[in-house]
Amino acid sequence: MTQDSRLKTLDYLYCAVDKQKRITIFNNRKLKIRKKGGVGNIMEITITSNYDEMSKVSAQLIAQEIQRKHDIVLGLATGDTPVGTYKELVKIHKEEGLDFSKVKSFNLDEYLGLAPLHKNSYNYFMWENLFKHININPENVYIPQGNIKDPEQFCIWYEEQIKKVGGIDLQVLGIGRDGHIGFNEPGSSFASRTRIKALYKQTIEDNARFFDKMEDVPRFAITIGIGTIMEAEKILLIANGKNKADVCAKFIEGPVTSQITASALQLHSYVNVVLDKDAASKLKRTEYYNWVRDNKHLIQKEIGR
Ligand code: PGA
Repeated sequence: MTQDSRLKTLDYLYCAVDKQKRITIFNNRKLKIRKKGGVGNIMEITITSNYDEMSKVSAQLIAQEIQRKHDIVLGLATGDTPVGTYKELVKIHKEEGLDFSKVKSFNLDEYLGLAPLHKNSYNYFMWENLFKHININPENVYIPQGNIKDPEQFCIWYEEQIKKVGGIDLQVLGIGRDGHIGFNEPGSSFASRTRIKALYKQTIEDNARFFDKMEDVPRFAITIGIGTIMEAEKILLIANGKNKADVCAKFIEGPVTSQITASALQLHSYVNVVLDKDAASKLKRTEYYNWVRDNKHLIQKEIGR
């Protein structure tokens, strides 16, 4: 099935979804994941010297996971932050043969109202920045469809597709200045699933740089929920730049609060955060994070592995 024919078939596929089949956050799968936590359930913080290094380190982490599990289910993000990571992944694919043929991917979000081929759609972004350069099977690519006739039914269908493939193995995230992951704006429930979300003023202003006129910037988006993200087996969050320093300090070292939805990740059992030094510049415990990273072998020795 081509990308285009997939988009056409979505219209009738979502109609078949049973509305009753909503999934709750703490289902059996979540409990199973927790047991897999390994050496202490951790949020591992890696501070890199610049954007390029952040991109290389994060691409390496993703590549390792693909090599470990060829039919991995990736959750993917859009925005300026992951552009370099995707470039590096394309490089690893071309130069080292990283194989995406069995990989499945689910994108986090899409602007409501934008057609998949609109130049500002996240569908367009993903094909331009990653998919058209690698050997992923278009049938395995899932991106919310912004111009779908019945978005509510579509959201239920999208959750069902994630469930059908056994859940997301590795969820890649950026972060908004208001602390959002996906488009889960401040106040989003930690149990939320894929749904329509009204965008926060700051997010609309930040997104305006991609549009000709302020009036063109979408006010709503389809986004997977915090509950959906928290069920991923592993999480990789990347952030760069001084304008992300405040929010990174808040979500890593501040209280867990729905006002900074990324802070929910403190409750996840396996999170890698890769920052450039600007985004990490307001963290208070940098020395500790660096020590833990460099001394993992000592922790393993202590527990006899
Ligand atoms: P950005 O967006 O990568 O363009 O900064 C991140 C986000 O809003 O999640």
